[in-house]
Amino acid sequence: MNIERFQTDALLQSVFKDGYELEAEKLETLYSKSKRHQWNAELDVDWKRFEPDVDVLDRKQDFLSRLECVQELPEDQQTSLFKTASLFTVSQILHGEQAALMVCGQLVNAVPDMDGKFAAAVQVMDEARHVEVFARYLECHGVRFPIDPDLKRIVEQLLAEHDWEAKCVGMQVILESVALSFFRMGEDMAVEPVFKEFIPRVHEDESRHVAYGVLALEARIPELAPESRERLENWTYDTVTRIAGRAGKPSFASQFQALATSKVDLEAFLPKLIRETSDGRKLDLEGLNDPMAQTVLPNLMRVGLLPERHVPGYLAQGFKLDLDEQKVTDIHTFHPETKAVREQYRERGLDFSDPVQAGQLGA
Ligand SMILES: [Fe+2]
Ligand SMILES: [Fe+2]
Repeated sequence: MNIERFQTDALLQSVFKDGYELEAEKLETLYSKSKRHQWNAELDVDWKRFEPDVDVLDRKQDFLSRLECVQELPEDQQTSLFKTASLFTVSQILHGEQAALMVCGQLVNAVPDMDGKFAAAVQVMDEARHVEVFARYLECHGVRFPIDPDLKRIVEQLLAEHDWEAKCVGMQVILESVALSFFRMGEDMAVEPVFKEFIPRVHEDESRHVAYGVLALEARIPELAPESRERLENWTYDTVTRIAGRAGKPSFASQFQALATSKVDLEAFLPKLIRETSDGRKLDLEGLNDPMAQTVLPNLMRVGLLPERHVPGYLAQGFKLDLDEQKVTDIHTFHPETKAVREQYRERGLDFSDPVQAGQLGA
């Protein structure tokens, strides 16, 4: 196993408050709900039901199964490919859970009010349980892939970030919403019995975490000074761009190293995969749910972090935002509107993967 260790120096402003009454009623309700819904990863999951030879997730619902280059692989290679791809994702979720545990521990210190400290504290326990359950699950498979460099960069930035609002946006709204989407999908797609058993429990915990982030930020964002708010909007844009991987920079590229450990002959398979996925006319994207469009962007819109100036930049990534209707549509990167706005950025010499330049198109 490849175990990596990294350190970051976190400069954190910690707030002590001599005031113990809970103010925000909704947050208090979330806290009491969390106390009642604690579960035990060791005892409440029937680990004996683990089946090593079945798919983790239903391959028929996986995007990969729509590709010709996958369909033409022999059966045993397909099985190995789907298993490796699932375990790569579960490994990244595990590392994300550790990050959530650490960032949330910081939030206990940094959030200024008692409601927030309580909500963060109970979340720390939830995240410890998630780390435990995913680590244990990967142990059953005897496989764990290292943290992807893109995820590592985001985690380092989150840990080192000074403002609690930015930590809360990055962790509670962006990363947790991505995870929430995955768990929602995972509930439908899970095949392996143990995975199928614990995913709905993790899902329930995560919905509380996202709800906490959205509630806390909805109240806080309107109070921010314009320059702090602009910094946060840019920070948000940058993080979304790096996670969605739709701004011309590859994201989560270490999955190819992971796939090299499967039975698939990558030298023959990869060129076909790249050819097939870069031709928009041939791709069947119908009904695919991207976590960004489904959960992350609607939540960011709700808390007020998607400004008018970034609408063209998000469009260039295939996310069409309607701020009046509060609606997000995933039109993908092959759409004529996406191509047209990319062309405008190109003509103006602006790089839309950069939050400042992305905001200059209408200027
Ligand atoms: Fe979690
Ligand atoms: Fe969480």
